[in-house]
Parts: sequence; C-alpha cells; structure tokens
Amino acid sequence: MNNNINIGVLVSGSGSNFQSIIDQSEKGNLDAVIKVVISNNPDAYALERAKKHNISAIFIDHNDFNDRQQFDQKMIDILKSYEVELVIMAGFMRVLTPLFIKAFPMKIMNIHPAILPSFQGIHAQERAFDYGVKFSGCTVHFADEGVDTGPIIIQSVIPAYDDDTADTLQQRILKEEHRIFPQAIQFYAEGKLEIVGRKVRIKNHKKIDEAPLHNPPLDKF
Ligand code: GRF
Repeated sequence: MNNNINIGVLVSGSGSNFQSIIDQSEKGNLDAVIKVVISNNPDAYALERAKKHNISAIFIDHNDFNDRQQFDQKMIDILKSYEVELVIMAGFMRVLTPLFIKAFPMKIMNIHPAILPSFQGIHAQERAFDYGVKFSGCTVHFADEGVDTGPIIIQSVIPAYDDDTADTLQQRILKEEHRIFPQAIQFYAEGKLEIVGRKVRIKNHKKIDEAPLHNPPLDKF
C-alpha cells in the first residue's frame, strides 16, 4: 500500500478532467488526496464540483495582482499551506511563470488536447481538425517554462473520421483525457516515473504491443 500524495488542482473552466480525478479518487483507484482546487475564474463550474465533493475551493482573481509573478506567488503560498506535493493543471488557462515552475520542479502536470509537440497552445483540437489530421489525441506532461513543452508522461491517440466535426473530435479527445490524467497521477503516486533529460520512463511497466494504426485502414497492403 502506497502512502497517498497530496495534490492541488488548478482550473479555469468546466473541470471535467478535475471530475475524472475526483471520481477515480473516490473509487479508491488513486493513491492521492485532493487537498485544494484553485480557480482564476469565479464562474468556473469546477468550483461547484469541488463544493459538491467537500474539497477546499479557492478563487483568486489574477486581475488583483500587479504581475504574473505575484499571482503565482499567491498560488504557491496556498498550495504549500495545504502541503501539496503534486500540482495538476486541469484546464488552467494561465501560463505559469518560472517562479511557479521552480517552486514545484517536475511536480506539475498538465493535460493538452493534442499529440504533443503538434498543436501546442490554445484551440489545439480545432487547429488539428482544420489541418486535416488523421489521428489526434491528448498528452499528459510535466510543465516546464515553455507552453506545452515539458517531458511527456503519457499520450492517447484517436482517429479523426471524415464525418467528424471539430466538436465531435474534441469530445472524443476529452474522453481519453479523462482516462490518461488519472493514470499519470497514479504512476506518479506509485513512484513509477523516472525522468531522464526530457524523457519520462515508467518503471517496471508493461510495453505496448507493436501495432501500427492506419487511418484510413489499409486495403491491400
Ligand atoms: C481540456 O481539453 C484540456 O486538455 C485543456 O483544457 C480543457 C479543459 O477541460 N487544457 P475541462 O475543464 O477539464 O473540462
């Protein structure tokens, strides 16, 4: 039995990823305790989700601070006061300053709705759809000082269909986000993540079968 790790979650919006973490935690599938959730948006539905599950929820208005660093320092102070060991960015729409990254080195996870390093930044799903990709998906990675550039922990790949819209593609990506984020947290909680340079290895974990995917499926070849 592992000791539970303390996690803090940063959100800005709906919080469906946050919900998947709550659900897996309540099912006993995560060796993690959600100590606090912080939102920079007072109307984030994620705050309601926190209240429903008796999780401390704090709104901090980034407009109240002179600069990004001061806002980040406030978040650091709160997270440290809750003894947070791992920070989860679950749809948090602010870029973190180096101050924050240094306060939690390789202890911040972000989810991105694309196969990184493709389509970094905002509106990734729409941009992938408009580009005409045949596959898309999502990535959980450690946050570093860049935007969606840190070491990759886990990725999920889904096909894009001819009859997809940006919206249907986004919905199917989101379903996978809800699976890989709890998994990444659990790997961390189990002490299985080994970071070597920008590569993250999962200690003693099974290997995926060699099974190339083709979209559209191959006909004769
Ligand atoms: C997700 O698509 C996530 O990948 C991106 O922001 C969205 C947040 O959705 N970073 P939700 O708030 O978890 O529902």
